[in-house]
Amino acid sequence: MTIAKLKPNIYFVGAKHYDRRLFDELIPLPEGTTYNAYLVIGSEKTALIDSVDGAKFYVLKENLKKAKIKTIDYLVSNHTEQDHSESLVELIKLYPKAKVVTNAKGKDHLMVHLHIPEEKFIVKGEGETLSLGDKTLQFFNIPWVHWPETMMTLAQEDKIVFTCDLFGTHLAQSEPFVVDKAKTYSSAKRYYAEIMMPFRKLIRKHIEKLEGIDFDMIAPSHGPVHQNPEFIINAYKDWISDDVKNEVVIPYVSMHHSVKEMVEYLTCALAEKGITVKPFNLTVTDIGELAMELVDAATIVIGTPAVLTGAHPAAVYATYLANALRPKAKFATVIGSFGWKCQMKEQIVGMLTRIRPELLEPVVVRGKMTDEGRKALDKLADSIEAKHKELKILK
Ligand code: FEO
Repeated sequence: MTIAKLKPNIYFVGAKHYDRRLFDELIPLPEGTTYNAYLVIGSEKTALIDSVDGAKFYVLKENLKKAKIKTIDYLVSNHTEQDHSESLVELIKLYPKAKVVTNAKGKDHLMVHLHIPEEKFIVKGEGETLSLGDKTLQFFNIPWVHWPETMMTLAQEDKIVFTCDLFGTHLAQSEPFVVDKAKTYSSAKRYYAEIMMPFRKLIRKHIEKLEGIDFDMIAPSHGPVHQNPEFIINAYKDWISDDVKNEVVIPYVSMHHSVKEMVEYLTCALAEKGITVKPFNLTVTDIGELAMELVDAATIVIGTPAVLTGAHPAAVYATYLANALRPKAKFATVIGSFGWKCQMKEQIVGMLTRIRPELLEPVVVRGKMTDEGRKALDKLADSIEAKHKELKILK
């Protein structure tokens, strides 16, 4: 159990979950995660900002004991997903006079998901404040990072903004602040790709809102606290921009080597043109790494064999996921091989409804690759090269 001081009378009291390996039964967590809860002790009132996953309530409870606070007046809920809210149920029992402070949507979610009674809430709107005596909390709505109710809380006098999921990292480390910039950057990019990327256009507005606020520290509810907010804000500005890089991502699966041969051929053809290529064999791929590479890539090529006339289920899964994550890729296509009949082109292309890339001519061959197939892949490589040159990301 660890508590850590951020500023006078403001403490990290959350929990580290070093050995958690999966989030939402979907997202790999190679470095574990943390559920950051922050205690803000004012001269008159005390607030706890966010709580922890129910499985780690015992850590939060112990940390609050260690912090020697007698009572909590306000339980601020920036985001109602259970990794930050589940412990509210126990906290309300522990501190029966405490009120849950959130926005109207947050109240609705907490009543539905955790059955917290209506009389426990104080609802705060955009820009409203809550006095703790010598400290003031101010609330700002930042919807869709990561659910529709999400908000951030500013500790005005101390200039700390508590952003919950936004600017988080699934990175469990013993230190409260960023210590390894490269590791934090990589972990934050993975987190952005897996969780925030579908909302990148909204994040632009949230960053604009942040630019109108006076703060010098960002305390998210996953991973380390940022004492240098520019570091993470600038990273986000890069990721959420419409700019793509001279990169092609190829998620693929191959049953009898034909697709693998096609992927290897295309990879070489593109690399010879000065294009960075990231092939991902889906049978051994960490989907978080694939998601990370989708953040910047200009082009996505899905490689699949036919299974019962459709695409391989692993390729369908990867395409579904890529489409849901809404990367900014400008171009996409399909390459693959079939035995006797297939509709996998139509199936894969039909799934890209949210990315809406410009579709390049697919290359689908029957059986093992032929010279004709190689020529078609050369043509596809030429076409990708031309498109990247049009965007001026390749000279
Ligand atoms: Fe960390 Fe959307 O919960």
